[in-house]
Formats: sequence, structure tokens, C-alpha cells
Amino acid sequence: MGTESRVPRPPEVLADRQAIEATVTRLGREISARHRDGLVIVAVLKGSLLFVSDLVRSLTVQPVVEFLAISRYEPDSGRVRILKDLDLDVTGRDVVLVEDIVDTGLTLGFLLGELGRRSPASLEVCTLLDKRVRRILPAPLAYVGFEVPDVFVLGYGLDFAGRYRNLDMLVTADAVALTADPDAYVDQLYRSHGARGPG
Ligand code: IMP
Repeated sequence: MGTESRVPRPPEVLADRQAIEATVTRLGREISARHRDGLVIVAVLKGSLLFVSDLVRSLTVQPVVEFLAISRYEPDSGRVRILKDLDLDVTGRDVVLVEDIVDTGLTLGFLLGELGRRSPASLEVCTLLDKRVRRILPAPLAYVGFEVPDVFVLGYGLDFAGRYRNLDMLVTADAVALTADPDAYVDQLYRSHGARGPG
């Protein structure tokens, strides 16, 4: 007892490439309509990597693209450390902060406080995924891709222990199985689902 490995719940596709493309196009249109004079996109690394690269291509206005790299001290603590700060002074600029997923809202709360202190002309949030059932801190989200239930999501930039970011779709995963074995989904996601794999 206790030695046999648990079979991970199979991943389910939350959004395939087509659904992602349609959503990113919609978000690009919404952001462009509100920022006709341009804007500063602040992408939070690493989760927003794929999302922001598609999002900026869907804009019909000119963005300046900046990156913020952060690390969490502890999950769900909201204590965040900035590993790489912006290269640009955003004082007086229109800023859209781009996140992969807003879960408890604690990370976003920290980032909004941090950027707000720099006195941008405006500060809005665009998130690919909104897991609002888990919210602890209210999150002002101007642009939302998909609302998701309380499930663990992988792919299209979202990882578990650094894995699965390059999947060309969003899938739900069994977090217990991943905690026991971070590679639990490699076979299923990189072979049988036809996703683009590490090659
Ligand atoms: P929050 O501070 O609880 O809102 O957490 C936001 C961060 O937690 C995201 O930027 C992700 O890095 C991570 N996260 C939360 N939920 C998921 C998930 O379902 N999959 C992958 N990462 C997640």
C-alpha cells in the first residue's frame, strides 16, 4: 500500500489553438480601441510569454513592450520579489499589465501597488485567465481572456515546475499527480494530444 503510483487524471483541453487565437484577437481589439495613442505593455514573466507575443501582434496600435520578471517567496503569500524591473520610466504613460492568470489576486495586488507608485497616466490589467473563484484580493481586470474554475491549468506559457510552457493549447491538469511527478503529463501531452513537443 502507498507504493503504487497514482494514475494522473487525463488532461482536458480548456482552449485549443483556434479558441486561443479568437480570444487573443478579441483582446487585441479591445485594448486597441481604448488606446488609440499607443500604450506601454508590461508583461509579467514567465507565464505571459506566449500570450504577450500573440497579443502584441493582434494590436492595431503601437505598443512599447516591457518585461517584469518576478518570483514568489511562498505560494498564495502575495510576497513577490522583482527579479527584473522595467527598463522604462512609466510616469505619465498608459500602462496595460499583462498576466497569464489571476488566481488569489495577491501577486497582482503587489504588482499594481508597485506600478501605481510610479504614477502612470492609467494602469489597466489584461489577463489570459481569470480564476475568480479563488480570489482573496479584489482584482480590477479590464480585459479577460477566459474565466476558469478552480482547476490547475497548463500550457500556452503556464507551467508546472518549469514544464509544459510550450504547449500550443490550454489544458487542465491533476495538480496532485504533478506534485508527485512533475513529468506525469509529458507522454500524454507531447505525444497523444498532437501538441508541439520538445522535439
Ligand atoms: P495569485 O497570486 O494567486 O493570483 O497567483 C498568480 C500566479 O500563480 C500566476 O501568475 C501563476 O504563476 C500561478 N498560478 C496560479 N494558478 C495557476 C495554474 O492553474 N497554472 C499555472 N500557474 C498558476
